[in-house]
Amino acid sequence: MKIKINKFKVKSLNIDHLKDLAIDPSHWFDCGTCEYKLYAYISTFFNDTTILDVGTRTGGSALALSYNESNHVISYDLEEHGASNIKKDNVVWKIQDFRNDNTLDYSKISIIMIDVDPHDGVQESEMFKFLEEMGWKGILILDDITNIWPSIKKLWNDFDYPKLDVTEVGHFSGTGIVSFGGIHELSWEIE
Ligand SMILES: C[S@@+](CC[C@H](N)C(=O)[O-])C[C@H]1O[C@@H](n2cnc3c(N)ncnc32)[C@H](O)[C@@H]1O
Repeated sequence: MKIKINKFKVKSLNIDHLKDLAIDPSHWFDCGTCEYKLYAYISTFFNDTTILDVGTRTGGSALALSYNESNHVISYDLEEHGASNIKKDNVVWKIQDFRNDNTLDYSKISIIMIDVDPHDGVQESEMFKFLEEMGWKGILILDDITNIWPSIKKLWNDFDYPKLDVTEVGHFSGTGIVSFGGIHELSWEIE
């Protein structure tokens, strides 16, 4: 699939109904500062798919990824930070590492977002290796790819798959999308 990111469409997306469900709506800044409009936009490229949100904290990224209600979001954290109290029909909250979730069918997962502490690249590189071993192919969204987090930046730079730095409409700390497994084409859509 050709995934073309249209900056204007990201900027003009209305995600207020998701912000209204958030525990910390004051953190939902506009795109370029906060990544949530971009995540919501990326969810519109797929229908009836499963999306993994790895690193829930208070649930913002999961809510954003749930924008397209035909999709099913599973959000994972190792600790409860209150997100499980948020009720949204197409989001399930799990306190576990996604790699131990034996219910997953990787052929039905189109998007995986990874944003886990402590951002030292250790867990992230193990997760990428796991996904390679599972033969997973899809859109990987990676948060924190700028100099603020050098270990994540290095992992980002080391990807051989097609990738697109979408920080301009994502998170100020850097947002990248990777065609993990190489099945999708990624580009900006010229307005
Ligand atoms: C930066 S926060 C995530 C922010 C969240 N995506 C948002 O939109 O606000 C990182 C989270 O990763 C969680 N975490 C750390 N290791 C994890 C793992 N192996 N699996 C899932 N979550 C993990 C931490 O408990 C923490 O809540």
